[in-house]
Amino acid sequence: MTTIPRQVRVVEVGPRDGLQNEKTIIPTAAKLRFIELLNTAGFPEIEVTSFVSPKAIPQLADAAEVFPAVAQQPGTRYSVLVPNERGMARAVAAGVAAIAVFTAASESFTRANINMTIAESIAAFRPVVATARAAGMHVRGYISTAFGCPYEGAVAPAQVVRVAAELLALGVDELSIGDTIGVATPNQVTDLVPLLAEQAGLDRLALHFHDTRGTALANVLAALHLGVSTFDSAAGGVGGCPYAPGAAGNLATEDLLYMLHGMGIQTGIDLAAVVRASSYLATIVQRPLTSKYLQAAISARQTDIP
Ligand code: HMG
Ligand code: MG
Repeated sequence: MTTIPRQVRVVEVGPRDGLQNEKTIIPTAAKLRFIELLNTAGFPEIEVTSFVSPKAIPQLADAAEVFPAVAQQPGTRYSVLVPNERGMARAVAAGVAAIAVFTAASESFTRANINMTIAESIAAFRPVVATARAAGMHVRGYISTAFGCPYEGAVAPAQVVRVAAELLALGVDELSIGDTIGVATPNQVTDLVPLLAEQAGLDRLALHFHDTRGTALANVLAALHLGVSTFDSAAGGVGGCPYAPGAAGNLATEDLLYMLHGMGIQTGIDLAAVVRASSYLATIVQRPLTSKYLQAAISARQTDIP
């Protein structure tokens, strides 16, 4: 039986996944302030933005302004989403050194999200990943709808494994397995993770849960017991994909950190600093954020709102 990892990598996806679904355009300066506050927390990786079509994701149309303006901290990787060669050229021009390509385990979602079949997405990523690898960049490969699709319903683990094999063959360093619409339950994690761990190795596997139905932390716990040691989350629990009807926020970083730290698992991340970043973000999006820990911290007045 695998023992629970003593150390976990938490990848903060708030500036990208968290903001991409916000309807009102957030000023570039506010995004930068949010990232600056996140920078004080000591994340090993922050997903900053996406070099996607501004028609697809208007909120992140300022990627070329945001990325170069981030004050990069030693020990933190700053990554971006790239869907095609056009996005890769823009990312390179902005000085990016770590990218993520993204496809899905179901055809309907892939079509809605990036207007490609899964096979076309793999073909589109081939030159992108080749360029990235030649430049020594870290490459993550996302597989969305791994536990369920908003259009097709159930997704078989074998389908995820098939797409994972294609991404690994392209040469991605890491897979992030997405529960895009937050439907997964722990038994699904227990069914899927061992298959992917055998394929990719546990140390190349990240899990990316949305908390639409309140099962994200239970899924993390199941994955910890299987030896997974990288999880994605978003400060405050913001997030969702505009092309995934019904998708709610990402697992909140504060809630994840509270559970991990309570279990004696090290992350190297300062929870109070994340609360300060989320508290600032709440003033920008002008609504309370969903993180349970954040709500408790605010009601206990444990935080100064910057
Ligand atoms: P398309 O319309 O099929 O592509 O979109 P196209 O090549 O015909 O381009 C259309 C227009 O966009 C053209 O401009 C292109 O130049 C431009 P026009 O001639 O009409 O003026 N364009 C670009 N501009 C800037 N940067 C680019 C770029 N590419 C084309 N990179 C495309 C296909 C993939 C581009 C589009 O569908 C797209 O950008 N989709 C991104 C959708 C997205 O970002 N979704 C959210 C991220 S995925 C997610 O959230 C899930 C995840 O969190 C994990 C999980 O939860 O499961 C990762
Ligand atoms: Mg997501």
